This record gives sequence, C-alpha cells and structure tokens, in this order.
Amino acid sequence: MSDTTDTKLESRLEEQETFEPPKSFVEQANVTDPAIRTEFEENWPECWERAAEFLSWDWEYDSVVDAADAPQYEWFTGGRLNASYNCLDRHVEDGAKNRAAIKWEGELGETRTYTYGELLNEVEAFAAALREMGVETGDAVTLYLPMVPELPVAMLACARLGAPHSVVFAGFSADALATRMRSSDSEYLVTCDGYYRRGEALNHGQKAKNGLRNVDHDVESIVVNRLGDESDSSFGDDAHDYGALVAEHEGASVPPVSRDAEDVLFLLYTSGTTGQPKGVEHATGGYLSYAAWTAHAVLDLEPTDTHWCTADIGWITGHSYVVYGPLALGATTFMYEGTPDYPDRDRFWKLIEKNRVDVFYTAPTAIRAFMKWGEEYPATHDLSSLRLLGSVGEPIDPHAWKWYYKHIGDEECPIVDTWWQTETGGTMVTTVPGIDTMKPGSAGPALPGIDARVVDADGDPVAPGNAGYLVIRKPWPGMLRTLYRNDERFRSEYWSEYSEPDEDEWIYFPEDGAKIDDDGYITVLGRVDDVINVSGHRLGTMEIESAIVDVAGVAEAAVVGADHDVKGEAVCAYVVLKNGEEPTVAMRDRIVESVEDGIGPIARPEKVVFTSELPKTRSDKIMRRLLENIANGEELGDTSTLRNPDAVETIARQVGDD
Ligand code: WT7
Repeated sequence: MSDTTDTKLESRLEEQETFEPPKSFVEQANVTDPAIRTEFEENWPECWERAAEFLSWDWEYDSVVDAADAPQYEWFTGGRLNASYNCLDRHVEDGAKNRAAIKWEGELGETRTYTYGELLNEVEAFAAALREMGVETGDAVTLYLPMVPELPVAMLACARLGAPHSVVFAGFSADALATRMRSSDSEYLVTCDGYYRRGEALNHGQKAKNGLRNVDHDVESIVVNRLGDESDSSFGDDAHDYGALVAEHEGASVPPVSRDAEDVLFLLYTSGTTGQPKGVEHATGGYLSYAAWTAHAVLDLEPTDTHWCTADIGWITGHSYVVYGPLALGATTFMYEGTPDYPDRDRFWKLIEKNRVDVFYTAPTAIRAFMKWGEEYPATHDLSSLRLLGSVGEPIDPHAWKWYYKHIGDEECPIVDTWWQTETGGTMVTTVPGIDTMKPGSAGPALPGIDARVVDADGDPVAPGNAGYLVIRKPWPGMLRTLYRNDERFRSEYWSEYSEPDEDEWIYFPEDGAKIDDDGYITVLGRVDDVINVSGHRLGTMEIESAIVDVAGVAEAAVVGADHDVKGEAVCAYVVLKNGEEPTVAMRDRIVESVEDGIGPIARPEKVVFTSELPKTRSDKIMRRLLENIANGEELGDTSTLRNPDAVETIARQVGDD
C-alpha cells in the first residue's frame, strides 16, 4: 500500500461524522431488524435461503451450498429456474402486466416505456428470432449495445434460451470487442447502428464491423436501428435487422428453458493484472438470488418503485441493478441513454423529477462533477420523490458524501456506499439502510451473511485503524464460479493469496486495500494490483501499456493512475522511445490513438511523459508506485531497491518542467 493512500485516508478519518438513518425511511424500510446479522451468522449457510426465496423455482434445490469442489462452490444445487421467467412471466402472471418494467429516455428527449407485458412479448419475439438463427442453450451471444432498451431485451432473450450473454461496453473499441468475442468463442453479435452523445450521432455500427474483421470464426450479426434516418449501413446485407426480426416473430411463444441453478447466466469481461481481460462467469441461481436479495435489502426496492441506477449495462453494476435485481423484484427500472450535462447540467435532476424516481444509484465520479457544476442545478428541481441514494465504484470522500446527502437527498435519504466487484455479483460491504448508522467515507459493515475481514500480508487480522487487505472468508451466492475456460487463473487470481488448500480453507482475495474500525466498518482504500479506477471504471495498466508499445518507435511503457478531482484517477503514461525516435506531438497523438483503438476513449492517457528510462528493481520489475508518486507530485517512496535510482530523479525533474 502506498504511503499516499494512507495520508489521504488519515485526513478522511479525522473528519469522521456519523448519521442515523432518517426515521421516515426506517418506518417503511424492507429490512429493519438489527438481529438479521446474528441470525445470518448463526444460521449460515441456510440463511441464504432468504435470497433464494425471492425467486420462483421450477424445481426446488437440494442443498444451499456444495463445497465439494471448493473454491468452485456450487449454490442451490439440484434447483432449476429460468432468469427471464423470474424477471418477466411471473410478474405478468401475478397481475403486473401493465406495470412499467423499463422506462427509457434517449439523449434527444424521446421516451419509451415497456410494461412487463410488452417487455415479455418483445423478449419472446427476439428469443424466437435468436433460436431460428441457430442460437442454442450454452451458446455465448455477444451484446455490443449502448443504453437502449433492446439491450435488456436481448439479455433476457438469451436468458430465456439458456444462452449466456456476454455484454461488451459500447464505449470499448473495435479491438476490445474482437478480443472478447474470440475469447468467448461467440458466434452471435447483437449491436446497433449508433447512439447519441452530446447530441451527436456516434457511428457504432462501423466500430462493430471493424471489430468483426479481427474475429476469424463466422459471426451472425443483428443490428438495432437506433438512428432512424441518420442510420449508416456499415453492415449492409451482412446483418439481420433487429426491428424486422421482432416484427416477424411478433406474438411468438417461447417457453423459458429450465436451467440448472449452476448453469451459466452470463460472462462479463473485466480487467486484471495481466493484459488479457478475465471472462467472469456467473451462474443462474446464485447470481439472480443475490442480485434480488441485495436489491431488496440494500437498495430497499419494492415493486412500486422506480429505480434509477446510472451505470451503463456494460458493467456489472448495470447487469445487477439496472436489469436483473430490479426486474426480479418487479420494480420499474429507468434507463437514460446519454450524458448528465446534455443539453444542460440539470439533465439528471430533470429526469428524477419527471419520472418520480424513488431510488437513485450513481458513482462518486458523477457526484464530484455535480458538485463542481454547483448546487443550483439540483436546487431548481423537485427531487422529493427520492427515498434512498446509493454510491458505487470507488470510495466516496466525506465531502462528496455530505454534498450528495444534502443537495440531492435533502437530508432525508440514507446513502448506501456499496463496495463490491464484477466478481462478487452484488453488493458486499455497505450499510443496511434501515438499520445501520452511516459513516461518510466508510462503506460500512459487511452485509449479513458476508464474512469480510481486513488482514495483513500473513492473513492475520490487523488492528482497527491500520491499513491491510480486504478478504472474504465464506462463499456467498453471487460469487463468480470461474473465469471462462480458465479454472487455473480463477484459483490463482482470487484464492491463492490467503487460502490454505491443505486445510480446505478458502479465502477470497478481491485485491483491495482496506481499514476496519472498532465497529467493524470497512473503509476501502483502493486496488493493490495493477488495476486503476478511472471514473469508477476498472482498467488494467497492462492492457493500456500493451496498446502503447504497439506504436512503432515505442520501446517500453508504464502506466499509473494519477489523482484526478473528477475521475478519481486519470491515466498517466511514461514512455521510453527507441533510439533515434523523437518525442514529438505526433508521437504523443499516435500513442493516445493506439490506446483509444485498443481499449476505448475511457482509457485515453491524460498525460504522456517521455523518458529515457523507467525505474526498475534489480529483478527488472517496473516500480509503478514511484511513478505514481511522481505523477501526483508526492514525495518519493523508498528507492533503495532500484537498479537505476537516478532514473527516478530524471523523470521527476522532467515532469516538474512540463
Ligand atoms: C473495484 C471493482 C461493482 C462495482 C462497480 C465496479 C472498487 C467498487 C467501491 C466502493 C471503494 C469501490 C474496488 C473494487 N470499488 N465499489 N463503494 N468503495 N471502492 O466494479 O469494475 O469490478 O471494480 O471497484 O476497488 O475492487 P469493478
């Protein structure tokens, strides 16, 4: 852990204040009995039946958890269910046919509402089309779509057929799409012609088409027409038209395929320490139970609620809390296509007012932008429909927390600061809003049934207040099952650090640093691996570095996260050029372009520093920590283990001169 993280935390802890959940909230909350923690603990693992009860099962499970193949735990074994049935049919059967399932607003202001009945119809029509095209149970279907309702439709259509979906964030590049399609052997792609960003139509179809050039196997593509007359026809006759397919299969009845609880519901790629993204695999029964349970207990969702989670569905937050959690509970989920400052900086507050949003879940990076823009934007809107606020993706500092509490929640909405990951499926460390005292800056205690601890390098608990590593000691239903086709990497990435395989003791290591206080509240300090968090998005430094060294003339690169007041961290790249190459503006542009092409604009380096050497240990490992110190203008950490200590001074001087 770097010294700087500690200093930042110290200043956070000094200002620690506490807030009690507002009475008006507690009176109506879904979970209000503090005994739930002891109940779950004493009754573990049967306590997890509470989560499974949120679902309708075709066949009851035999056991809650099966540890025979630990750490590849199996949940609700023997049980059978279908996720799309649980998110749609059963609500329609229960009389909610006319309740809004999805409310959507495009950036240009057009709106669409899908009732549960309408959503089910479209999902069945699209599932019929997929099936006719040859999609079979177990086939991975790639969904490369922005925030349009067709994305949840396609996810649920896949779930209906038992075909795992693999959603690729629309902001990722053509190359990133190709890598993920190759890695998941996906022979089907659902994408669209384009979408709007700040009023401009982006040509997404062309990007998808470019990606397919780097996929060797045959791919059947389906294109959603989002742009109407502005549509570009990059795919020509090479793709099916989504609208035509749905029209053709209108009224089709596609019975949900009964899936084993352990069958894969979806794959979702995320960044890790190596250059190769990890295909996180989530199973139907455990994931859906956990998404529904946490949406109930933490987001406090009721079927009568309109929930707005601002995350893109291309990330796990969108999977669990735009789509699966809210729909499993029969609530209304709100989706917005565009940016928060288009046409003006009050767009979000307008949307909350207009749609009478009850629960609002966003990221600290957005909150920091709202603060910068000023409280006058929310102040001119009626936000009184809000009951609960959430934060996710990175630590929220007390300053931003209090601003959110006051200017958005009017001091009447609890805030849940939820720590979790792509791999955990749902929230893990957070306050239960109807029970727990809130401490701004600290995510909170582990949820009932979750055994989270903070330990030192040997795995021993650290004293309250000291920095250590966050670990999870017991399995939970929402956990990933494995990494696609890579059980070995699954074990080494998450279970090798603290587990005792000989004693059959398995401890999950999320690769985050943390502190714990006397009340068991956990403050997450950030990643301890080579992953950086830009605007709540997880990016692997190795992936960015490999895009940089692809540029002709580049010899070596090291990427670190530099503090950024809105993004949290920004990408800072140190680049060593080959002999005879000049550090020109053109070279810098080529580097930036290569990162955008390799990953996407979110990974664009904010700063490129040309240097003659990178600081390395005697075993030739790049000392990224020192580069991080330099990027942040901090005092340098220990340089005594370096093979080339002079390099650090040179780079620091260079950065200072910039
Ligand atoms: C990493 C996971 C599922 C959340 C969206 C990102 C960081 C996430 C918090 C929080 C402090 C947080 C961690 C984690 N993180 N939430 N409330 N406080 N840090 O999912 O892309 O898998 O990234 O995001 O570092 O390991 P992800």
